[in-house]
Order: sequence, then structure tokens, then C-alpha cells
Amino acid sequence: MQYTQKVLDHFMKPHNIGKLEKPDIIATEGSPACGDQVTIYLKVNEESKVIEDISFQSYGCASNIATGSIITDLAKGKTLTEAMQITWKDAADALDGLPPVKMHCSVLAVDTLHTAIKKYEIEHNLREPDKFNKKSIEEELRKVIYPTVGEDIVTLKMVKYIGFADGVATVDLDIPRFDQHKDNVAEEIREHLERFLEIKEIKVNY
Ligand code: FES
Repeated sequence: MQYTQKVLDHFMKPHNIGKLEKPDIIATEGSPACGDQVTIYLKVNEESKVIEDISFQSYGCASNIATGSIITDLAKGKTLTEAMQITWKDAADALDGLPPVKMHCSVLAVDTLHTAIKKYEIEHNLREPDKFNKKSIEEELRKVIYPTVGEDIVTLKMVKYIGFADGVATVDLDIPRFDQHKDNVAEEIREHLERFLEIKEIKVNY
């Protein structure tokens, strides 16, 4: 696999690794694509809402370690609002790119950061818990990366229709029958959507 020098540097000597002493928030997320995990620890200035310290622990691949390292570099010193704007593409760009099949590692790192921020904001009455609706499903599908191009399936216009009624989530895909990844993509969609308690049944049509 072809990694950039920056990925290798962050993998060999990760920044901000390990647990923080007395963190304000801890968040762990797992990747439905591979089962790997990242934990992020945050210390936030209560007045300014600046992330004063941040660290991570990785339970996964080289890109998992490199993206955990870069995302903590990117978020440190930013306000919570600014750090929420960091995307998985920003993280991948800051590493001078990732192989397409490893883009989901960047999604995992950013997702964990966003979960940590949301958790902090909800605990400090700065935000309401997200209301679940069709938009929530679309946002989740934006984390499903089509592996050969390293782009998400919504941006690639592979999602034709999203429905949600009576606890049933329906996703219609526009993906050729002969596509070698179609079953994996469908499975990953199911794994992403399974985490929502509001969804009782998932139908992926393709
Ligand atoms: Fe799982 Fe990289 S392959 S996070």
C-alpha cells in the first residue's frame, strides 16, 4: 500500500497519543467498515470553549494511528465550533492524502472528534441531542466510503432514495449489478444505521 511520507511520519511518531489526565470528555467510536476503534480525550476551557488539550488512543491500523494523530493536531487550540468544521477530507488532505481504501480511517477519526465535541456540548447545555430524521440517515451515509475511489456514496450519487417511516429505514442504491463492492457497501450501510435506536428495520435495495 502506498502511503505518503506524512502518513508514515504520524504513524511512526504519533502526536498526542495516550490518555489525558482528568479529561472533560472521552469518546470512543468504531468503524463499521473494519471494526477498528479510536478513543479521543478532550480538555476544554469552560469560558472560551477552546480545546486546550486533546489526545487519542488507537485500536487499529496504521492509517487509524496517523489520522488520530493529525486530527488531534488540527483540533488543538481551536474552539469547539471551529473543530466541528473539520472534515475527514481535511484530515486526509493534512496527511497529503490516503489510499482510497483507507479513507474510512479518516472518517473514523473525525467522527470520534465530532462525537466528543457533541458529548461535551450536550453535557454543558450548549446543544440539544440530535433529533433523528431522514437527514440523520443521509449524514450517516456520508460516512460510507466507496473503497476504490475513496469518496462517500452520497457525493458519488450512489444513493437514489432515503426513506424513514415507522422505524423502517429504506435506502435505494444506484450501483451496477456487476459492481464487485455492492454487497460490502450494502453491509456497511446496515452496520452504520444499526447504531440508531430509532431504526428497527433496515432495507437496502440495489
Ligand atoms: Fe480500520 Fe483503518 S482499516 S481504521
